[in-house]
Amino acid sequence: MSGCPFFAKKFSANEHQSKEDGDSHPRIVKAAKDDFTYGDYLQLEKIVNAQTLQSELKGQKVHDEHLFIVTHQAYELWFKQILWELDSVRELLTEEVQGEQNMLKMVNRVHRITVILRLLLDQFSVLETMTPMDFFDFRKFLASASGFQSLQFRLLENKIGIADKLRVPYNRQHYKDDLHVQEREAILKCEQEPTLLKLVEKWLERTPGLEKDGFNFWAKFEASVDESFKLEKQKIEQMPDPVAKHEMLEDLNSRIKVFTSLFDSKEHDHLLIKGERRLSYKALQGALMINLYRELPRFQLRSQLLTHLMEFDTLMSKWRYNHVCLVHRMIGSKAGTGGSSGYYYLRATISDRYKVFVDFFNLSTYLVPQDWVPNLNPHLYTFPYTANDSSYSSCSSSSSDDSD
Ligand code: HEM
Repeated sequence: MSGCPFFAKKFSANEHQSKEDGDSHPRIVKAAKDDFTYGDYLQLEKIVNAQTLQSELKGQKVHDEHLFIVTHQAYELWFKQILWELDSVRELLTEEVQGEQNMLKMVNRVHRITVILRLLLDQFSVLETMTPMDFFDFRKFLASASGFQSLQFRLLENKIGIADKLRVPYNRQHYKDDLHVQEREAILKCEQEPTLLKLVEKWLERTPGLEKDGFNFWAKFEASVDESFKLEKQKIEQMPDPVAKHEMLEDLNSRIKVFTSLFDSKEHDHLLIKGERRLSYKALQGALMINLYRELPRFQLRSQLLTHLMEFDTLMSKWRYNHVCLVHRMIGSKAGTGGSSGYYYLRATISDRYKVFVDFFNLSTYLVPQDWVPNLNPHLYTFPYTANDSSYSSCSSSSSDDSD
C-alpha cells in the first residue's frame, strides 16, 4: 500500500507519518498542504459524473444502459492512449537523424499499443454479459448515435494509414459526413499528416545495406536466388525417376515464378495500383532484408518493430471481428443506429483492405534457406552512420555517459 502516492499523501496529512518518511517525500507533503487530492488529479468529478442514462431521462430507466455507457467510455479512453503512443512513434520516425537511437523507444511503444489492444479484445466480453433483450430495452434511446461516429477510432485508422479508397462503402456516403464540423476538421488535419505506414516506408528505405554503392543487398540477393535455383535444377535433372523428376521440376518452376515477380519492379508497381502491395519497392526490399538478417545486432530491434507492427494490424482485425460478433448477437441482421446495414457492413470490414502492413505478412512467401542469404560481414561492410548515431559506440564511451 505504501507504494501508492495517494495513500502516502493522506497518511502524511493525518500526521501519522514518521519524520523520516515525511522528509523523504517533501513534494507529497507539499501536495497535501495544497489539498490536491486523488480525485482532483484524475479529474474524477468529470469522469464519474459523465454517465447520463437516456432511458432514465425518459423515465424508463434500464439498468444495463450504465454498463453500455461505461464500456464505450473505457474504450474511448484506451483509444486516446493508443493515439498518444501512436503520435509519439510517428514523431520519432520523423526524426531521421535520431532514428537509430530511438529504436528501443519505438519498439516499446508499438508493443504497448498491442498490449492495450489485447485488453480491448477481452473487454467485449463484459458487454456480452448484457442480453440482447436488455439492449433492446434501451436501444431506441440511442437515436442516431453510433460507434460509427467515433472520432478517435477514425483518427486511429487514418493515422495508421488505412487507405480511403479501400474503405467499405457505407450508404454511399463518407464517414466524415456523419461527424460534427469540429470533428471533421480534426480528420482533415490528420489527413495532411504523414501516416504511420508512410513513415515506416521512409524508414525502411533507409535500411542499412540497401545502398547500391555499398552492400547492395537487392542485387546480391537476386544473384544468389538465381544461382541457387540453377543448382537445384541441375540436381533434379540428374534424377533417374522421370515421374518424380517431372513433379519436382514443376514445383521448382512455380517457385522460380514467385521470385521472378518479386524481382520485377514493374510487377510491383502493378500490385501497388491494385492495392495488393502498400510499400514502395525499396521499402519492401528493406523489410525483407531485416527479416533475413534479423539475428544481426543491427537488425534485431528493427525486426522486433516489424513484428509488433504486424501484431498491431492483426489485433485491429481481431477487434473488428469481436465487435461484429457482439453486434450480430445483439441486433441480428437489423440496421445499425448509424444507418448502415449493421452486421453485413461490419463483416465486410474484416478484410485485407483494412490491413496496413499487409506487405510484412506476405514477406513470408519469399523466405529462403539460410545458405541462400548473401553473407553480410559487418567488418567488411560498414554501414553509413550519422554523426549523432552513437548506437554502436564502444562500451567505454557509453559508460562515461552513464556516470551522472
Ligand atoms: C451492444 C453493443 C454494440 C452494438 C449493437 C454496436 C453496433 C454497431 C453497428 C451496427 C455499427 C455499424 C454502424 C451503424 O450503422 O451504426 C457499429 C459501428 C461501430 N462501433 Fe459498435 N456496437 C456495439 C458496441 C461497440 C463498442 C463497445 C464500441 C467501442 C468503442 C463500438 C465501436 C464502434 C465503432 C468504432 C464502429 C465503426 C466501425 C467501422 O465503421 O468500421 N461499438 N457498431
